[in-house]
Amino acid sequence: MYSFSDGDIICSCKGTTKKQFLTLVDEQELMTLDSVRDKTGINKNCGLCITIVEALLVEAGGIAESTNSAR
Ligand code: FES
Repeated sequence: MYSFSDGDIICSCKGTTKKQFLTLVDEQELMTLDSVRDKTGINKNCGLCITIVEALLVEAGGIAESTNSAR
């Protein structure tokens, strides 16, 4: 899998970098994909960033699976 640097955009729709994402996850204690979508709007539009968002969330100690099948 491609390795992202801190300054790389991981969600083009929100313009969020990897570092910004990890900071949001940490500060808001986001542990699930649903909470990431609801609290930040990341992965809530086109959905193309799901692979990297899930991977980074798991790396940060969260859970990637969503309880919401509709995006
Ligand atoms: S790139 Fe993340 S929702 Fe579109």
